[in-house]
Amino acid sequence: MFFETRSALKFDVFVTIPRLKPVGFPNSQFPIPHSQFPVHSQGNMESLTSRMQGVQSPIIPVVGELIKNSPGTISLGQGVVHYNPPPEAIEFLPKFLAEPANNLYKAVEGISAFLTALAGKLQAFNGIEINEENCIVVTAGSNMGFMNAILAITNPGDEIILNTPYYFNHEMAIAMAGCRAVLVATDENYQLRQEAIAQAITPKTRAVVTISPNNPTGVVYSEAALRQVNQICDTHCIYHISDEAYEYFTYNGVKHVSPGAFGSSKYTISLFSLSKAYGFASWRIGYMVIPKHLFVAIKKVQDTILICPPVISQYAALGALQAKEEYLQSNIGAIAQVRQVVLDSLNRLQGLCSITPANGAFYFFLKVNTQMDAFELVKRLIQEHKVAVIPGTTFGMDDGCYLRVAYGALQNDTAKEGIERLVQGLETIVRS
Ligand SMILES: Cc1ncc(COP(=O)(O)O)c(C=O)c1O
Repeated sequence: MFFETRSALKFDVFVTIPRLKPVGFPNSQFPIPHSQFPVHSQGNMESLTSRMQGVQSPIIPVVGELIKNSPGTISLGQGVVHYNPPPEAIEFLPKFLAEPANNLYKAVEGISAFLTALAGKLQAFNGIEINEENCIVVTAGSNMGFMNAILAITNPGDEIILNTPYYFNHEMAIAMAGCRAVLVATDENYQLRQEAIAQAITPKTRAVVTISPNNPTGVVYSEAALRQVNQICDTHCIYHISDEAYEYFTYNGVKHVSPGAFGSSKYTISLFSLSKAYGFASWRIGYMVIPKHLFVAIKKVQDTILICPPVISQYAALGALQAKEEYLQSNIGAIAQVRQVVLDSLNRLQGLCSITPANGAFYFFLKVNTQMDAFELVKRLIQEHKVAVIPGTTFGMDDGCYLRVAYGALQNDTAKEGIERLVQGLETIVRS
């Protein structure tokens, strides 16, 4: 199977309820025709209305269906890595099983051994000190950390600033909380425009979200840029939510920087994940570092939705953190090699596409010089050239034709073949 299970799951979760076009979404941001929804249940469901009608359906599951219907397609769409968790993660499972009390509910914020190990990692890798002003909350993945944060810091009608292109689950979480995502465009290199961020702040603004290294663009923000965002947030007494799911994925000597390490962190919420770096996507382990004053509110959210993060996964994660340095070095080194293969091929598209330099995550975000609709282009790439990428509309980009190319899930040879198909496909479709 070439496409991520996460998509298959989402296919069920997101599109079973017949929906109306959400208010405020242009057609291109809501590109799934009603006829494509699998209707598992008819009848009364037609009249069901809920807050979810105002939430976009990501197009990723639709791309997953297209791939399924076009066997042999190579997916450059997957936002996952090709490797498995380290052996140390699995070695910790008997320790979990040996203790019968592990079958009971545990602390809402995570088990203490894991919290202690995370504090060590945060100090050593991120330069974030855990002290009496902040604390760690383990979550079932960093998407949950984001939802926890939004519910804890907002009232319905509040605003959250997202830099575009955005990560679609952030936009969806904000809509689900009854809040409004205020979109601020990044510059031509997908870097932050701090002045525009400051100008977008209103009395209803509660947070600015940054993602570095970035999904979907792969760019990494500089320390200076992130410090400026912290400063803006401090000045306006609003939060900086820093999503660092790709913290280990940087290339060419670029270093990851954590805003939580910039001295006072009264307004910084930092989100981390084991899904990418440790091949832990299905184990559902992430964690957040929050100012202490948010602890009670976040515990209320998490206690209601999760009660406690899965304890078996926390044991595995505790083991993963003890992996030898070589585990991350060699696996991310292999991704760096694939990145170079992808880049070498993409460079042949100069003139047809703009390819922004990106030294992080495992994505490139192409702007294709065509009037074509991005989803239409993706459809033809899959059906005629057997290669899949994700249309930029998924990330809120509808001022042109953008494509996200993901290279973390493939080994060298498959990546080479996939990227060649993409280059040839774009040359054929766009030039014709
Ligand atoms: C920016 C970003 N944040 C969070 C996540 C989700 O991470 P997790 O699996 O920890 O929920 C992703 C996954 O693609 C992501 O790209």
